[in-house]
Amino acid sequence: MNSKIAVLSYLNLEVLNKAADEISQKTGNTVLPIAADVRDIEAIQGAVDKCEHSFGLPNIIINNAAGNFISPTERLSANAWKTITDIVLNGTANVTLEIGKRLIEAKQAAAFLSITTIYTMSGSGFVVPSASAKSGVETLSLSLASEWGRYGLRFNCIAPGPIETKGAFSRLDPTGSFKKAVKKRIPVGRLGKPEELANLALYLVSDYSNWVTGAVFRFDGGEYPSMAGEFNSLLDITPEQWDMMENMIRKVKGS
Ligand code: HXC
Repeated sequence: MNSKIAVLSYLNLEVLNKAADEISQKTGNTVLPIAADVRDIEAIQGAVDKCEHSFGLPNIIINNAAGNFISPTERLSANAWKTITDIVLNGTANVTLEIGKRLIEAKQAAAFLSITTIYTMSGSGFVVPSASAKSGVETLSLSLASEWGRYGLRFNCIAPGPIETKGAFSRLDPTGSFKKAVKKRIPVGRLGKPEELANLALYLVSDYSNWVTGAVFRFDGGEYPSMAGEFNSLLDITPEQWDMMENMIRKVKGS
């Protein structure tokens, strides 16, 4: 099968062309690279026009654009806040609403998938614009799953834990200390791989998941429960220490 793919990306056409060539060579599929800034609604409208004229409206839409860096919140300017939330929340809304409205008009079904982050569940200091905006993306997705399900549109999210990419890690782990501590935080014992995220994404945009909508999938090698669990630090206790503690516990009688 030779399916056609539209690639919509951030401004960097050079990176985009390289990715398009790579996908074309590996799959034999037609790839249309369209550079557009998700913050710019006119650019998004133009990109969707181009996609529609080339091979129709898409039936799979993946919102993956993100911007983020670690910083104490009191150091953020208004423009720093705006930059991140414009990319993450407004960018996702720009793409989703532009394509969604056209799909409704055309009576065409589709699957939307947004990539968020594990810390929407807890919030997180030092990435507050990203945490706030990604939570907004999840709420947008849950809301539209309810409202636009009647048009045959599905909306799901994947909330990943740490997956090493240059864009993210250069801004979120500039010293490498997070990566060093990762084995302790993640029961699977390593960072996630982009291919592993792609596997779940593929399922969620395929017909195998036609009954799945309005869902957020935590995808983190077990990091979230591992960090939250009250007694998980007991993993450091040696068998000898357990012998001693078990003795102490067994000696306790009554309340
Ligand atoms: C404080 C900063 C800053 C920093 C930028 N700003 N970096 N403030 N500390 N380290 C401020 C600037 O001073 C400016 O405000 C405003 O933010 C915009 O900065 P620009 O550099 O002009 O913005 P721009 O080039 O448009 O945006 C770049 C970016 C950058 C969004 C800030 O991070 C980026 O390009 N990121 C894309 C890739 C990425 O981040 N991917 C990671 C996503 S991963 P002033 O007031 O000075 O004008 C993710 C999930 C992680 O989000 C999950 C982990 C578990």
